[in-house]
Amino acid sequence: MGKWCVIVFPLLLFLCPLFHGGISTVVARGQEGSEEWGYVEVRPKAHMFWWLYRSPYRVEDPSKPWPIILWLQGGPGASGVGIGNFEEVGPLDADLKPRNSTWLRKADLLFVDNPVGTGYSFVEDEKLYVKTDEEAATDLTTLLEKVFNRNENLQKSPLHIVAESYGGKYAVTLALSALKAIEAGKLKLKLGGVLLGDSWISPEDYVFAWGPLLKDLSRLDNNGLLQSNSLAQKIKQQIEQGQYAGATTSWMELESVIGSNSDHVDFYNFLLDSGSSDAVSMTAIELKKGIAVKRYSRYLSSLRSSAGGGGGDLDSLLNGAIKEKLKIPDNVTWGGQSDSVFDSLAGDFMKPRISEVDELLVKGVNVTVYNGQLDLICATKGTEAWIEKLKWEGLQKFLSIDRTPLYCGDKERTKGFTKSYKNLHFYWILGAGHFVPNDQPCVALNMVGAITQSPAPST
Ligand SMILES: *[C@@H]1O[C@H](CO)[C@@H](O)[C@H](O)[C@H]1NC(C)=O
Ligand SMILES: *[C@@H]1O[C@H](CO)[C@@H](O)[C@H](O)[C@H]1NC(C)=O
Ligand SMILES: *[C@@H]1O[C@H](CO)[C@@H](O)[C@H](O)[C@H]1NC(C)=O
Repeated sequence: MGKWCVIVFPLLLFLCPLFHGGISTVVARGQEGSEEWGYVEVRPKAHMFWWLYRSPYRVEDPSKPWPIILWLQGGPGASGVGIGNFEEVGPLDADLKPRNSTWLRKADLLFVDNPVGTGYSFVEDEKLYVKTDEEAATDLTTLLEKVFNRNENLQKSPLHIVAESYGGKYAVTLALSALKAIEAGKLKLKLGGVLLGDSWISPEDYVFAWGPLLKDLSRLDNNGLLQSNSLAQKIKQQIEQGQYAGATTSWMELESVIGSNSDHVDFYNFLLDSGSSDAVSMTAIELKKGIAVKRYSRYLSSLRSSAGGGGGDLDSLLNGAIKEKLKIPDNVTWGGQSDSVFDSLAGDFMKPRISEVDELLVKGVNVTVYNGQLDLICATKGTEAWIEKLKWEGLQKFLSIDRTPLYCGDKERTKGFTKSYKNLHFYWILGAGHFVPNDQPCVALNMVGAITQSPAPST
């Protein structure tokens, strides 16, 4: 680490020069009130950004430790520090107004721009992007060691890894890698559990869900269904033959076939139309240039502006006021390397991570799966299909038991269903698309309080 630090008031900002390979780089590390942030050099010249919020709602309860949540965004290449924080669960929304339903009500929050190259994280050499989920998990484990090992207070909070979308694949590989580091005495934390929100755990099961689901909803006809299923078959074969990059290309083709046959159904909420006309004229090759990630990254902002909401453009915010507050190095652009993050993971994008879920279940880790009813890209139909492929000994019992309905405030309106058997938990969230905490904040907050066993009073 740096040889010296200057402390600048009132932001308590530490500017620490880091020396490596003869180059000196000034890297932001700061603190403001109950917030802390900084970079960890997870490998030489690969810098990962994190931002920790301590909850103002903290409750001390000797029998229930206050939990901490690590939020992992998808993409690959979408920023948790930006999207998860300002558009879903953080203390402020994209207009910097307080968010009533922030998950800080139940836990501390740690946002990380993962993998390197995402959001404010950056690499100094393009060879340093990760190519697999496991490589991302190794970097994240290094980051957790740097953040947790020196902080005994933080170690008292069980860590719950909450993922959205592609983040689910990072979450399960990270949980296994973190457990190994914990067992080896290298990482000091207690793993509380893993939450997989609308998570891309089995790409094959999702692509097979799309056609039949949209046909039943009148959004595809038989011709569209046939085209969709035949591409899904091709993807299945490519996955079986280990042609993962080819499967990624076919997946993009399938998205554009569904787009044109459905007059552009929205992949993040099948009751909506994809507002953007960008997909109309796009070929599969153009799609390959990370357009899918951009769509994912911009979805919530575009919903806001089409609903007549505030300007709140995430890009200007994160490259403007927030970048200034955090003292991010000038030459780092939030989101500047995210396309490369996606491209670099193209060979892993279609690889399933069902067996990692099985491993976690066998190890006794609490695994919670939650899914928005209206999501298309990670449709509940596909999630249920991969759950049924688990080899876990509790599966048949899990499948056979009844669900419990969920309400929030209004007792007349069913907000979802849940069931649990041993350490597997499932939440079906009604009226939500892909971005569950944004679409159904009340029931999502209650769920997170229950799963993390937060001592905070229920709302
Ligand atoms: C959010 O605000 C609304 C309206 O002021 C209130 O009814 C609701 O209880 C609040 N939600 C939480 C989680 O406090
Ligand atoms: C920013 O500048 C530093 C110091 O010159 C350099 O080491 C680093 O690679 C640059 N970062 C990016 C993302 O270009
Ligand atoms: C898993 O969650 C349940 C509550 O849902 C809790 O009672 C149990 O202690 C948790 N198990 C572990 C290993 O954290």
